[in-house]
Amino acid sequence: MSNLERLEEYIKRCRLCRLAINRLNAVPGEGRFDADIMFIGEAPGKSEDKQGRPFVGAAGKILEEALEGAGIKREDVYITNIVKCRPPNNRAPLRDEIDSCISYLEKQIKIIDPLIICILGNTAYHTLLKGSSITMNRGKLIDYKGRYYFLTIHPAAAIYNPSLRSVLMDDIKSLVRITKDLKKRGLEGYI
Ligand code: URA
Repeated sequence: MSNLERLEEYIKRCRLCRLAINRLNAVPGEGRFDADIMFIGEAPGKSEDKQGRPFVGAAGKILEEALEGAGIKREDVYITNIVKCRPPNNRAPLRDEIDSCISYLEKQIKIIDPLIICILGNTAYHTLLKGSSITMNRGKLIDYKGRYYFLTIHPAAAIYNPSLRSVLMDDIKSLVRITKDLKKRGLEGYI
């Protein structure tokens, strides 16, 4: 078993916060241990809680479409969330829940060591980069404490506002292009 798999198994048994009480399954994340791109959303929803897998409901379908539009598959990347268990009624995770869970994400980032972390939405933006408006800043690449972060909207925002699907799709295309450039010749011209 790899270090990442060991960590995922550990997360599945976590009882550090109240979200463990009502969950069906913890959702550690899934994908390649050597992914170039790591996606970070907010928290599992109902479908994710049922299946123990990230982004498998309506928002996941939109994310997958955007990935496919950019020429990549979900198996090519790593996908996870700020908190690993579903908050009741899909409310935003509370500060103490995030605090209990964040070391799992830090460990995942350390193990996977992706070229770029893609922030999906405000919860991930605020938690990881202290940012406050993803709509104002989406599409940007940021160098923060020696890591590259790309900012985009949360796919769930496009469920009720279909015009945001093309925004997400265009952002993911930029992300994939930047990642390819970064592998080839560094980030000259971007930052
Ligand atoms: N929304 C998220 O932020 N994460 C998921 O895994 C599903 C929906």
